[in-house]
Amino acid sequence: MRSLIDITDFSVEEVTRVLDLADEMIADPARWRTAMQGKILATLFFEPSTRTRLSFESAMLSLGGSVLGFAGADSSSTTKGETLTDTIRVVSGYCDIIAMRHPKEGAPMAAKLCSDVPIINAGDGGHNHPTQTLTDLMTIRREKGRLDHLTIGLCGDLKFGRTVHSLIGAMSRYPGVTFVLISPPELRTPDYVLQSLQDQGIPYRETESLEEAMPELDILYMTRVQKERFFNEADYVRLKDTYILDPEKLRTAKADLRILHPLPRVNEISTRVDADPRAVYFKQTRNGRFVRMALIKTLLEDMQ
Ligand code: NCD
Repeated sequence: MRSLIDITDFSVEEVTRVLDLADEMIADPARWRTAMQGKILATLFFEPSTRTRLSFESAMLSLGGSVLGFAGADSSSTTKGETLTDTIRVVSGYCDIIAMRHPKEGAPMAAKLCSDVPIINAGDGGHNHPTQTLTDLMTIRREKGRLDHLTIGLCGDLKFGRTVHSLIGAMSRYPGVTFVLISPPELRTPDYVLQSLQDQGIPYRETESLEEAMPELDILYMTRVQKERFFNEADYVRLKDTYILDPEKLRTAKADLRILHPLPRVNEISTRVDADPRAVYFKQTRNGRFVRMALIKTLLEDMQ
């Protein structure tokens, strides 16, 4: 039995197979309508979510399976003091696979150790978010035709942005990838992520200036400043509008740049960018449904 806690739990070949299956599913969704009939997905979200939880539920329903779960720790027995491991032991008796989101880093790993069914990490604190990364990889591959030889700019909250950490881990495994890490000094990429890039000899540079980085980018991955992870409101208010992408800033960008964002967006991309053909963040959310369908089928059938 396999789980997906960190994107590197899957080899590059396994990731490729999930993305290939997702492409097949998006091309002909009707073919998969009963693929997971009789199977149950539990979505345990101890932290708020719209896209991720609904896309998991939509994915399982699109495969003919069923879903149960809760959206918010307030509606679970956590409020009575139940431990995470007890909750997982109980729920794994009610379902075939669990997607969980938790504010504490490492919680999905702890869950995996006591679960009888596969666990999918749907985001753990400021740490990792591997299914968002599968969505990002699918989007980059569909848009650019490849995952190698790309210059990727990641912009915004690189400290607390878990999607950033997982995406760097995933993209580091393809040849010819260069990272441009664009953030204010307070929101720099964590040292453990930078150390891993250095150890692998992967080229990266850090800058505060989106304007300076723009002309060389193939992918621009914008992120929200993660309000909920700040210790004090004043720091958040000072940093939240550091970057606002607008059509003027895109003037120096490549014609085939692609702009991604895991969403939700706050202020960091002007709505005036939405009509630009290079903006693919809404396509990206749609891809997320299909890549989660592919992931569920892979964990429940192909990797059993
Ligand atoms: C991201 C998350 O939860 O980390 N959202 C998502 O899953 N689509 C990004 C964010 O909240 O900023």
